[in-house]
Amino acid sequence: MKNKNKTVWSTRFNKATSKIFEKIGASIDIDKRLFEEDIFGSIVHAQMLAKQKIINKKKGNKIINGLKKIRSEIRKNKFNFNNKYEDIHLNIEKRLFKIIGDDAGYLHIARSRNDQVITDFKLWIKKASYEIIKNINDLIKSFLKKSESNIETIMPGFTHLKNAQPISFAHYLLAYVEMFKRDQKRFVSNIDYIDECPLGVGALAGTSYKIDRNFTSKKLGFKKPTNNSIDSVSDRDFALDFLSSASICAMHISRFAEEIIIWNSDVFKLIKLDDKMLTGSSIMPQKKNPDPAELIRGRAGKNFGSLQAMLTTMKGLPLSYYKDMQEDKALVFNSYDTLLESIIITNELIKSLKPNKGRMLALSNEGYTTATDFADYLVQNNNLSFREAYKISAKLVNYAEKNKKKLNQLNFYEVKKMKNDLDNNVMKVFNVRNSVNLKTSYGGTSIKNIKKMISKLKKEFK
Ligand code: ARG
Repeated sequence: MKNKNKTVWSTRFNKATSKIFEKIGASIDIDKRLFEEDIFGSIVHAQMLAKQKIINKKKGNKIINGLKKIRSEIRKNKFNFNNKYEDIHLNIEKRLFKIIGDDAGYLHIARSRNDQVITDFKLWIKKASYEIIKNINDLIKSFLKKSESNIETIMPGFTHLKNAQPISFAHYLLAYVEMFKRDQKRFVSNIDYIDECPLGVGALAGTSYKIDRNFTSKKLGFKKPTNNSIDSVSDRDFALDFLSSASICAMHISRFAEEIIIWNSDVFKLIKLDDKMLTGSSIMPQKKNPDPAELIRGRAGKNFGSLQAMLTTMKGLPLSYYKDMQEDKALVFNSYDTLLESIIITNELIKSLKPNKGRMLALSNEGYTTATDFADYLVQNNNLSFREAYKISAKLVNYAEKNKKKLNQLNFYEVKKMKNDLDNNVMKVFNVRNSVNLKTSYGGTSIKNIKKMISKLKKEFK
């Protein structure tokens, strides 16, 4: 082995690593994404070692300057990553030796790659979570904007994809706002779990040097150091939390995408999308397909797959560090990239979406959507039990169906046939706008409720 290509452990090894293992064992192509966090962690570690007089100030500064030089090389794309040194940690260490000489060997006092990698990874996931939180914020703002211009847009609400009851389109959009709010909260609360600093626990047992873990933790922006050195290097819960939150958010997005696809279909025609969110067909000249919505619907599968893979990797793994866990980075990076793109596309989709208001209103009168309102009227005005009222309303629907009429096309005489002591006032229950406005219970679809909710949410999401 040529001297310059030696691994750090070469003293104990008589043979070079097998080529195939070198290929799958090296994670540098993936974990080089951690370089900012790795260098930040190393700088703070060196500061701590100097502060504790474990290394002298001069060595500390030399190491820190070398690390800063490496950082600027990587930022400028002038760094040569080498598979032979496995990962980001050893690539940087090797380069540090090149730049400052043997003093580089003092940096790895009182730490191991085991605590180093989780420190980097936790810092990265924190940063990624903030980015997701910010993008969900933008998404919510776009949903609120679209809601505001559609408070009076009446559409059929569905259960079983059958017309159920009239709702405001804004109310429907606000349902997604609630989902995204929960997604955001999940990422926020994950940060609380991530917020313990593992650096300084060493390989698994802790260290005999008089290190100051509080200093390291504080400088790196964590709330406190982790409590147990074994758990520290074995724990990947924070990655699972991220993957699980990403999956749930992706699931919400896929539900929205699915509705967009259905509503944009030639059968529903409930919405129109801007041309920039559609693609053509290579054979059918007339086609405008909602590919972006289909892609984000499909890509949720990638988020779920990463979560499943990570859970399976961790299942049954004894304590503490095993190489199995190295696969965590690819899964999290992948899930992050996928989710971030999906959120951004969803934002574009909602901005480019135009409801077909006439069609929405017409469809909200189909499927006897005010039948429940009629039953409620009978309970509230004629002193009937809900079950009795339900039967009378069902009979009215039978009658309308037989006579090929919508409920709002019936006349008073026809309605009165179901119950002869009815007042003419009853006819207003077949008006879908009236139906929407009657739903004044907290969280219901009445226009008044929606206006209040939008102004409350707008204050929350600026
Ligand atoms: N690249 C490794 C990982 O991501 C770093 C930790 C290596 N530790 C070890 N004991 N081999 O897991």
